[in-house]
Amino acid sequence: DIKGFAFDLDGVIADTARFHGQAWHQTADEVGTTWTPQLAESLKGISRMESLQMILDAGNHADDFSQADREALAEKKNHFYQRLIATLTEDDILPGMKSFIHSAKVAGYKMSIASASKNAPMILDHLGLANDFVGIVDPATLTKGKPDPEIFVRAAEVLELAPNQVIGLEDSAAGIESINSAGQISLAIGDAVVLSAANLIFSSTVDVTLQSIQSKMDKIKS
Ligand code: BG6
Ligand code: MG
Repeated sequence: DIKGFAFDLDGVIADTARFHGQAWHQTADEVGTTWTPQLAESLKGISRMESLQMILDAGNHADDFSQADREALAEKKNHFYQRLIATLTEDDILPGMKSFIHSAKVAGYKMSIASASKNAPMILDHLGLANDFVGIVDPATLTKGKPDPEIFVRAAEVLELAPNQVIGLEDSAAGIESINSAGQISLAIGDAVVLSAANLIFSSTVDVTLQSIQSKMDKIKS
């Protein structure tokens, strides 16, 4: 039986995936990499330094930037991103997610955060959700980012649950792969083609309720 949920943050709880995209778009322009929807999609769920690497690789610029250059670019991106999220409030919780989190809490499910973002604790604070989670996996302590299972394995440990008692929620292909490899049930929010590897697929956060999850779970079992 399912006893807990491990949540990605950006694009699942908070409407911040678009801000990461905006900030990386600016970086791509600066280094001379063409920004495409495919590149934007592939960066979802990927850590800051790895995202930068992918942007450099996409434009064949990996050899043109030293480690010091990269750190400066990543820091600049983060400053721009932090300006975009500085004014976040409860209103920036994606539609339906506040009530989903609260109903899950009332129903006795344990919840943790499995976000690659070092800004996650601050964002949860802004959204007024900081007290709803048993714990947040600190991405600085990971040896490998998504799609590696490590972050979701850790998110289940935080909940003190076995992997098959946990549903992981994600908006990225890398995140769904991480959840699947961690042995959890994967719940995707977004494009059914991009996220086709997920066990349960929802096109929007508004559709995610305890009831709709149960009915999709019943369908995959039968
Ligand atoms: C993930 C986002 O949640 O966090 C990525 O999907 C982002 O786009 C990553 O790069 C790292 O975030 P941060 O805030 O530590 O730069
Ligand atoms: Mg995400």
